[in-house]
Amino acid sequence: MQIENLFSTLWSQYIKLTPQAFDIKKLFLQTQTKAIINDHIALRTLSHKRCNIDVLAKFFITLGYEKKDYYDFQSKKLDAHHFIHKNLKYPKVFISELKIEEFDKETQDILNSLVSKIPKDILNKSALLSSSRHWDISYKTYKSLYAKSEYAAWFYVFGYCANHFTIFVNDLEKFDTLESVNTFLKNNGYKLNDTGGEIKGNKEVFLEQSSTLAQIIPIKFIDGTYDIPSCFYEFAKRYTNIDDDLYQGFVMSSADKIFESTNLR
Ligand code: NI
Repeated sequence: MQIENLFSTLWSQYIKLTPQAFDIKKLFLQTQTKAIINDHIALRTLSHKRCNIDVLAKFFITLGYEKKDYYDFQSKKLDAHHFIHKNLKYPKVFISELKIEEFDKETQDILNSLVSKIPKDILNKSALLSSSRHWDISYKTYKSLYAKSEYAAWFYVFGYCANHFTIFVNDLEKFDTLESVNTFLKNNGYKLNDTGGEIKGNKEVFLEQSSTLAQIIPIKFIDGTYDIPSCFYEFAKRYTNIDDDLYQGFVMSSADKIFESTNLR
């Protein structure tokens, strides 16, 4: 699969789960003549060897991506890597995984049973990345997972899809600052994730990020339909580093707060 096809498949799936992203992109497109550039996407998975970061990453590596920095989000029991294409016009890819072995036996059993339900043949195909979930879901299990890990509960419901896309603010024609982007979003009725402040990071760490709160959508569980947070849209402004290159990495303390965009409020 070509890179463009892969991202357009992920985008189509993402805007079904997060119609606000389609609407927000349209709002920004109305302010400018050029296309909107995507800074990065993020994917979530579990640390099991059948479906861990490396399993998801291999589809990107085949397409010319390289593995970059490692991040360890200890309190969330997550680790992550980001991947960059040598052609910087392609979005960076941030893949995180939940460390199954750090949970109690009951939670481990639930998570391992999810992994066992992913069909073997899809694990070798890039279609895995947008394959959603491969198991039935109950609200009871969702709530019990949520009590242990928001990430586990989110993955249980949504499985494989882009958790977020990210507008590259530097390339917007009418917005010079992330503040002005945030004001535009709020004026249009969108709620932002304000955990740790609306803007995470600063010029000194070469990256500023903000995000909407994940859109609440109705999800059909086997024991009823409930409204829960799906995916969100992120906005990133990058600064040049000491070598005068535009910084291409991520900032742990900011990413830690961005994860919380999918929290129940
Ligand atoms: Ni992100």
